[in-house]
Amino acid sequence: MTIPDDKDARIARLEAKLAEAEERLQRQEEFFQMAVHDLRSPLSAIVVYAELLMNRVMGDLDNRQLEPIRTIHRNCNNLIRMAEDVLASAKVRAGAVVPRFEPGDVTEIVRESVRSLQGLADAKNVHISLQQPEARFLRPLDVDFLTRAFSNVLGNAIKFSPHGGEIRIGLECDEREIRVAFTDEGPGISPEKRDEIFQKFRRGDAGSVSGHGLGLSIAQYFIDLHGGRILVEGVRGRGSTFLVGLPVS
Ligand SMILES: Nc1ncnc2c1ncn2[C@@H]1O[C@H](COP(=O)(O)OP(=O)(O)O)[C@@H](O)[C@H]1O
Ligand SMILES: [Mg+2]
Repeated sequence: MTIPDDKDARIARLEAKLAEAEERLQRQEEFFQMAVHDLRSPLSAIVVYAELLMNRVMGDLDNRQLEPIRTIHRNCNNLIRMAEDVLASAKVRAGAVVPRFEPGDVTEIVRESVRSLQGLADAKNVHISLQQPEARFLRPLDVDFLTRAFSNVLGNAIKFSPHGGEIRIGLECDEREIRVAFTDEGPGISPEKRDEIFQKFRRGDAGSVSGHGLGLSIAQYFIDLHGGRILVEGVRGRGSTFLVGLPVS
């Protein structure tokens, strides 16, 4: 009976290959996490020095000199946020961190995301309005992960908005779902790209707008952790609406 022997040997070889590949992947992942982690310190130092310059601690500067420093400051903060998002999602995936769900108010998470990105919006003169700011929508949530999810969606809305554009954030709820809608006046997304933009490293019709195509995949991951969904609507050329739905309980 040579056939079973052959088969066994093949299976053993494949298993060995698989184990080797898994180990390699694990090492790559560890290296990647370390690299992302190490990015944080130099970037933070750049932010601190940019702030010293912006606050004129090193001497007076005129607007022409301040403008590029503000850009450095903004972009470094973007990179820090992205590095932290990648690290946070990698840690959950690796089981090193478990999401902590506690009763919370979704409106408050939206507000926190707006607060953290207000500077970015101001720099483009983009106005963000929150419909029904006094309403509360309560459910169990992980504050950190849901804030990261919303900040990515809102960060995109700002990034893709025209100068002086308007972003509207609407919140509503029925017996099944709490829904948050982020509507901007940017270029919108063509229907055939509406699924793929949620995949890693996929960028839609981003044109010259900078980015890495990671934000929405991370947002979707954190929303998945809450049992929720995210999708995009809108008419190409006339803005987009990103809709996040979170089951009530
Ligand atoms: N508000 C938006 N308006 C227009 N296009 C968007 C918007 N948000 C996301 N997109 C599209 O989805 C793509 C993926 O987004 P994301 O994963 O956040 O990556 P990045 O922002 O780095 O490009 C973007 O490159 C862009 O094509
Ligand atoms: Mg993005």
